[in-house]
Order: sequence, then C-alpha cells, then structure tokens
Amino acid sequence: MFPKDFLWGGAIAANQAEGAYLEGGKGLSIADVLPVGEKRIGKVKLELKKGEFYPSHEAIDFYHRFEEDIEMLAELGLKCFRTSIAWSRIFPNGDEQEPNEEGLIFYDRLFDKLKSKGIEPVVTLSHFETPLHLVTKYGGWSNRKLIEYFDRYSKVVFARYKDQVKYWMTFNEINHTHTIPFLAAAIDITDIRDEREKLQTLYQASHNMFVASAKAVLNGKAVNSDNQIGCMLSLSPIYAATCNPNDVFESYQLRRRSLLYSDVQLRGEYPKYFSRITKENKLELLIEPEDLQIIKEGTCDFLGFSFYRSSLHESGMKILGNTGGLLGKKNPYLEETEWGWPIDPLALRYVCNELTDRYQKPLFIVENGIGVRDALDVKGNIFDKDRMGYLKDHVVAMAEAIKDGSDILGYTWWGPIDIVSAGTGEMEKRYGFIYVDKQNDGSGSLTRKKKASFNYYKQIIQTNGEKIDFTDYLGEV
Ligand code: BG6
Repeated sequence: MFPKDFLWGGAIAANQAEGAYLEGGKGLSIADVLPVGEKRIGKVKLELKKGEFYPSHEAIDFYHRFEEDIEMLAELGLKCFRTSIAWSRIFPNGDEQEPNEEGLIFYDRLFDKLKSKGIEPVVTLSHFETPLHLVTKYGGWSNRKLIEYFDRYSKVVFARYKDQVKYWMTFNEINHTHTIPFLAAAIDITDIRDEREKLQTLYQASHNMFVASAKAVLNGKAVNSDNQIGCMLSLSPIYAATCNPNDVFESYQLRRRSLLYSDVQLRGEYPKYFSRITKENKLELLIEPEDLQIIKEGTCDFLGFSFYRSSLHESGMKILGNTGGLLGKKNPYLEETEWGWPIDPLALRYVCNELTDRYQKPLFIVENGIGVRDALDVKGNIFDKDRMGYLKDHVVAMAEAIKDGSDILGYTWWGPIDIVSAGTGEMEKRYGFIYVDKQNDGSGSLTRKKKASFNYYKQIIQTNGEKIDFTDYLGEV
C-alpha cells in the first residue's frame, strides 16, 4: 500500500545532535544559550552564564561521530535522513559576506557519507538555530535585514550541495512563531505587554520569513530545477472541547492561525482572512512592493509537517503551546506520554486528509515520534514496547491516509538516535531506536546501543510497511 519509492527515514536537527558548538569556526546559535529545563523556551538570556549546563554544546557529539552513526542508520535501512544545516557553522554571526569553509566541509562530508550508504539527505535550512548575533544585533526575524542574510546563506548552501541534496525545507515549524517565538523566529516577546504590539512583532517576523523562504525557493530552483523544496509546519490538529459552537468556531480560527503559514507558502499569497486579522488588530506591517511578487513566485513544492499529538480547545482559554503543538484541555479519550502528550494516531490520518483537501500537494511527514524514559534491564537491553506501539499505530494511520488519497512522500521518525530535547533540553526524553549513553546532567559515555525498536523499524522499512506486528521484538515476556 505504500508507494515503492516511499521515503522511510529519520529526522534530527543539527543543534540537538552535533555538539562541537564552537568547533570548525562555528558561531553561537540561539540553541547554544538555552539551558536545561522547561523554562528554556520562555524568557531567554542571550549570553552564556558560568556554571550553567547547556545541552547543545556537546549534545550527542554527532559532529565527531556521524560516520559510525550513519553506519547504524544504514543498517536500520533508512532511505532518507533529515537533518538541518547549522546556519552558524556556515555564517558564524549570520551577517558576514563570506562563508566559513570549514563549516561547509563538514556538511560535504556528512552528505557524502549519507549518499555512500544510499540514504537521501533531507535538509532543513533553519531549525531553531538562528545565529545568536542576528538576535543581539538585529532583534531576530522581526528585522527585515535577516532576509538579506538568509538569502546569502541559502545561495551558498544550494550551490555547494547541488549534487548531494535534492529535498530541502526552509523554516522548521514556522507556525510555532506564535507559541515558541524564540525558537521559531528568534524573537523574544516575553516583555511585550501590549497585545497589539505582540502581534505586530509576530506577524512582522512571519512576513519577513515568508519573503526569505520564497527567496530561498527561487535560489534553490535556479541552481537545480529538480530540487524539491518544502515548507515545514507543526500541524497537530485542534479539536473543539465540546459541540458548543463557540468552541468549534474558535478551534477553527486557531487552526487557521497555523494554516496561514502553509496557505502563504504553498499558494503564494496571503489569504483573505488575514486582512481581517490585520485590520482588527491595527497591524502596520512593513511590506515592500516586491515582497508579494516574491512570495507569489517562490511557492513550495510540498508540505512538510511534524505530528505528535492532538489538542483540545475550549473557547476563551489561554492559548499556550510547546514543541509538540498547542497545550489544550485534557482529552478523556486519549492516553498520554510521560510528558503529558496525548497519543492520537487517528489524528494523523485526520490531518493528512485535511491537508490533502486543502492543498492537493504532496505531504511529507517529517517528524513523528514519542518521548519515553527508557529503562535498561539487568542485561542492559531496552525493550521499548511503548515506542513500538506508537510507531505501529502511526504507520497504520498513515497507510489509511494514503488509501484515503493523500500523496505522502515519506515519513521521518523524529530522533532515530537519542538526541537533546528541544523543549526541555533533557536527554532522558528519548525518541531513538538507538540509545545514547548520556544523561540530563551531561554525564555518560556517549556509547550507542540498539533498542528493540531498532529491528522493528528495520522490519517495517524492509517490508515497505507491510509487516507491522512487533511481538517478535518484545524479548522474554
Ligand atoms: C518539534 C521540533 O517541535 O518537536 C524538534 O521540530 C523537537 O526540534 C520535537 O525536538 C520534539 O520536541 P521535544 O521537546 O520533545 O524535543
């Protein structure tokens, strides 16, 4: 039922895996100043503090160990591997004229290694790792200066990797600009009290990113018209908490708050409903005359999205979110992970249908997975049944969506090897099929070890999603 060239894969982000945060000429990125803890995505200190532990500085040391890691991922059978280029490896401050050759060489080696193993790289240009200098000097994406710097960066990497990379995405979870603005748009709005001003900053940053994304698409196509360049959103669905029409309508509006981002990036224009938002909030966005033409021409080829959970909305409730999407009310019909993320595979089928109906463009599920606190048994084995169960149910849901008519290019499991959590900076919120011996406080030998789910995902890939039973992998039960 899965197309024969379906891209089964895994996904990571540079800042959550590479470490080597100042090696090879790299500059600081916004991820490098985030300490451990849930508060890290709120009010942020823009400099390093002595004595504080910063998980991205070493992460899982992928920078030095990628060759052995890719050997393991090849054994897993991955057809594709999604990672990001750390912008601050290429332009350490973000605003230089010339790129850092050592940074470019690192990704030459990484992509060559993937290609040598028959694994297709899928590359995000900006995954929560804007160079820090672009925040301290320019204030992040609300400043349109960043369009110019991103344009330069994208031209350099499209040209450099034109023979190695075909699948690209511009901004990771661009719609998270509303809920986690520092990660998604490199802006800190925590001190802005005035609601209008907050929205003005958010939407100005969004507009600048739309123009930057469209320019990047045009740059990528100019280098190689075969390049497939997607946008990327977090699109876990929002259910109305009751059939009260107020709950239903407000949930719909909230959904549009996200879909605005794919509407613009896939259709090439602002939708009508956005005029009402700007009018009612008295927004005065700085839109240069050429911007709308650039947005029109630089539309994306596919819609990449992350899916972890669904959420439940009641009208009037405070709208909060984290890396998995919105934080709504508790859904009594769903179980939750240890981190309180509802498990809802049917919602994946729902969202694929919703997006297919809306856009009729290919979809790429570029993040899906479950964070689990893995336990090693006396022999040191990890029988991660919950992860296998989650994987199975989501593969089934995806297969159903394909039968419903969705055109899905591929599926990249989030964190096939344990990496640092973006939301909390923890290591113990593990997604991997490969265990990395590293703990929340930074201790650990960094050795890698297969979990039971490793062979299970391998089976799924080998059988192209046909054999999804995992009883063979449960150990002695
Ligand atoms: C997505 C991000 O929001 O969720 C990833 O694109 C992130 O970077 C993933 O890691 C899972 O979130 P967390 O907080 O569990 O790492």
